[in-house]
Amino acid sequence: MHSIPDSNLSVTIGKIKLKNPVMVASGTFGFGEEYEDFFDLNQLGAIIPKGISLKPMMGNPPPRIFETEGGILNSIGLQNPGFQDFIKNKLPYFKKIKTHLIINFFGNTQREYAELARRFDEVPGISGLEMNISCPNVKQGGIVFGSDPKMAYPLVREVRKATKLTLIVKLSPNVTDIGLMAKCVEEAGADAVSLINTIRAMAVNIHSRKPELGNILGGLSGPAIKPIALRMVWEVSQKVEIPVIGMGGIMKAEDAIEFILVGASAIQIGTANLIHPKTGIEVINGIKKYLIQNKIESVRELTGLFKT
Ligand SMILES: Cc1cc2nc3c(=O)[nH]c(=O)nc-3n(C[C@H](O)[C@H](O)[C@H](O)COP(=O)(O)O)c2cc1C
Repeated sequence: MHSIPDSNLSVTIGKIKLKNPVMVASGTFGFGEEYEDFFDLNQLGAIIPKGISLKPMMGNPPPRIFETEGGILNSIGLQNPGFQDFIKNKLPYFKKIKTHLIINFFGNTQREYAELARRFDEVPGISGLEMNISCPNVKQGGIVFGSDPKMAYPLVREVRKATKLTLIVKLSPNVTDIGLMAKCVEEAGADAVSLINTIRAMAVNIHSRKPELGNILGGLSGPAIKPIALRMVWEVSQKVEIPVIGMGGIMKAEDAIEFILVGASAIQIGTANLIHPKTGIEVINGIKKYLIQNKIESVRELTGLFKT
């Protein structure tokens, strides 16, 4: 086998047929346009722009990014232009792009989550929604829902009722039992789960004796979190029937393949985009190469091939 047909890289998540399993993660790829000079964005399986809320958000006080060994800490605080501005000024760009657009969104209340889902449901050009119930950097919302199954279940159920779009629920690693959370959102009607969001963390400057981040706490991402993310994806994929989308420290094709082997149907690239913008395209090519070298017909077959 020297080559494989493109269709052997395609995967299905809910109602979305992706040309390949590689997406770019929310918050690490701007609104797409910022990356167009680096490679042909149409080659990606999907683009997930920065998370959107009903109203614009200013985010947290600076500094909001701090580099650690093997990762980065961020406390952006979900800064975003809000629904209306996104539709007017950011969405038109995606009309030119022929890959799927998945909208990452969040609210402070159940009503806000459902309202946003309802509004996006009516907007043409959107393939699916990724519901963030896991951001550690905002006081309200996000993590409050994402760490308690009793809150997550009714929230996802309400959002499910509000949209016919494919609904992906993004899980927080800041929980004791991520398998339980995944099962709970599956029962509430999610079409897929994505994981992991960043891990709550901090850094201290010993000279000023102050925190390195303006918000004190932030979320850790990058290679440092990969083994944890991998363990969580493995646990979740054994618990649920719906597709699992894995992320956390994927820097190269081999990392992505590890996630697929332990059960991910697709993967997302986050922090790597900030370091090497072409990572997405290299991961697609690397997965293709691995399939050919190992005589595995399709990426769908690779999912869960992990041997214990
Ligand atoms: C600067 C930055 C901003 C982020 N913003 C969002 C966001 O708006 N919504 C969201 O769901 N996740 C957000 N994330 C989390 C990433 O999408 C991803 O889940 C996480 O970084 C783990 O993957 P990685 O190690 O490949 O970066 C952000 C991450 C970073 C580093």
